[in-house]
Amino acid sequence: MLEIGTLKLKNWLIMAPMSGITNFPFRLIAKRAGAGLVTTEMVSAMGLTRNHERTFRYLSSSPEERPLSVQIFGSDPHVMAMATEIVVEAGADIVDINMGCPARKVVKTGAGGALLRAPDKVKGIISAVRKACPVPLTVKIRSGWSPGQTVACETARIIEGCGADAVTIHPRFVTQGFSGNADWEIISKIKAQSRIPVIGNGDVSDPPRALAMKRETGCDGVMIGRGAIGNPWIFKQILDLEKGLEPTTPELSERKAIILEHFRLLSDLMGEKRASKVMRGFLLWYTKGLPHSSRFRGSFTGIKDFNTMITAMDSYFITLTGSSEIPISKTNSMDYQIFQHETRAGRER
Ligand SMILES: Cc1cc2nc3c(=O)[nH]c(=O)nc-3n(C[C@H](O)[C@H](O)[C@H](O)COP(=O)(O)O)c2cc1C
Repeated sequence: MLEIGTLKLKNWLIMAPMSGITNFPFRLIAKRAGAGLVTTEMVSAMGLTRNHERTFRYLSSSPEERPLSVQIFGSDPHVMAMATEIVVEAGADIVDINMGCPARKVVKTGAGGALLRAPDKVKGIISAVRKACPVPLTVKIRSGWSPGQTVACETARIIEGCGADAVTIHPRFVTQGFSGNADWEIISKIKAQSRIPVIGNGDVSDPPRALAMKRETGCDGVMIGRGAIGNPWIFKQILDLEKGLEPTTPELSERKAIILEHFRLLSDLMGEKRASKVMRGFLLWYTKGLPHSSRFRGSFTGIKDFNTMITAMDSYFITLTGSSEIPISKTNSMDYQIFQHETRAGRER
């Protein structure tokens, strides 16, 4: 079990924040598939404090996915503290600060990965957020800004010194993006010096790699990003492997039920038309490695409505199984409840 501050998680596996990916439908699927903690995509602290409606949409969540970690980014301690109050009010069980994002639009404002070049700002932000944050606080960092400038250990010391409850390290440099390999040695070094839990992240693409990261680095938790896209069952597979059980891949019928559920949740969140567009991307991942998947994905181009997409999916899966079992359009979706958060201005209207 992994404990972050006062929060006891059901296991040591964490779904990584991924912008454009880890919205509430994705997180709910990951949670049902066994993740101990799920994280929102990064949310702009400035957007929250300025009451931008679009930014508030990132806070849509469901009680079933809790505990929920909400990741915020920004470069101004005061704004970050205000954003913390907003996300806690909206139901965050953990507040996570992004100190690793390499996106140009983020680093040019001095936020995300740019903070790794500004230790005083790191101190200022974490101290201000800590004061405003009644729930556990975590910080996610990279190795440093660019190769030759490793600051992860010093930064982790500052993070712990300022009262954060855990640190997550994705050991690549900001300028590297996703190229090269994650340097797990840095996770080991941070673990060796820290009293707070250390969460390792980077290149866990299959269940054996998750166990290897834990064993080799001694980290307390493992965060998984790309390895869970279209492959949410990785969480249960890891937990099975840890217990000495053979990890199993879901039957086709289970896989298609998950795809459909994902689609339904997306449609409820963003409407059918947009969900169809977003789902096309996910289908690439969900059907990766299955027979004739590229032909099937090609057949999706141009489809904009839910029913046509479901019919196409049904016929693909029937081709795969060679059976006339229940089409996915007839399977039951699980009940869930969704909380959407209005901007403060919206509520005051
Ligand atoms: C599409 C995408 C979006 C991401 N968005 C975020 C983000 O919003 N916040 C963040 O801290 N990291 C973000 N990341 C980085 C991941 O959280 C993670 O650190 C990285 O993918 C390495 O882990 P992995 O090898 O398990 O994928 C993103 C990664 C991807 C692929």
